Amino acid sequence: MEPSSASISYRQYAGDRDLQTVIELIHSELSEPYVVYTYRYFLDQWPQLCLIAEATPAGGRRGMGSPVGVIVCKQSTHKNGAHRGYIAMLCVASTFRKRGIARSLVERAVRKMHVRGATEVVLETEFDNNAALGLYEALGFIREKRLYRFYLNGKDAFRLVLALAPQLPPRPQPASLDQYWNEPSSYPPATPSPFAEEDSVPPVDVDP
Ligand SMILES: CC(C)(COP(=O)(O)OP(=O)(O)OC[C@H]1O[C@@H](n2cnc3c(N)ncnc32)[C@H](O)[C@@H]1OP(=O)(O)O)[C@@H](O)C(=O)NCCC(=O)NCCS
Repeated sequence: MEPSSASISYRQYAGDRDLQTVIELIHSELSEPYVVYTYRYFLDQWPQLCLIAEATPAGGRRGMGSPVGVIVCKQSTHKNGAHRGYIAMLCVASTFRKRGIARSLVERAVRKMHVRGATEVVLETEFDNNAALGLYEALGFIREKRLYRFYLNGKDAFRLVLALAPQLPPRPQPASLDQYWNEPSSYPPATPSPFAEEDSVPPVDVDP
């Protein structure tokens, strides 16, 4: 496939039928030799936080793409109380690099974790992985600490952190401005106006 003319789409991990795809992509691009249990640990518990990038050749049918990138994450509450997202694995096939695929995978995964309440996202990468450091720092991650001989190959890692603003509960939005102005409010005023007619406040359903 000619990478420059292919279109890229993104989708969520779809269960066991994607397991081998994810393993093969990561195995071919990452130095750390993960066993199948490591993949299953992440993919079985947080399938919604694994995203796959697929390339479809020009003129090809959507949905018939080949996998060219993947990100695997998890999300949990850390012992310091922070609701933490964690990027465990990320890779893009070498012929499809420098096209913004990794950036898009990370942005999409971070957005998902943020919506699910994460207030920070962390990851580790080899201290000399300039492509990964460049990518994450361009997205706002900062180096938190250097981890001595973190990887099985004896290399140090940098732990990178991205702080996220806490999510506010969504405010109910009117479907349109017309609706906003024309529909009576479903909430009674805090202090009923002495000028309001008795039945001008719509009844409110109160949950038991
Ligand atoms: C790191 C990796 C995922 C980047 O994938 P990619 O799709 O080529 O990255 P993108 O095209 O989205 O790049 C986004 C930004 O990252 C940075 N970047 C990407 N590749 C870079 C490189 N080789 N050197 C320096 N910065 C780089 C740049 O800031 C780039 O923005 P720009 O294109 O506007 O300059 C890819 O090189 C890879 O799979 N490497 C092997 C596996 C790996 O190291 N994974 C990370 C482990 S944590």
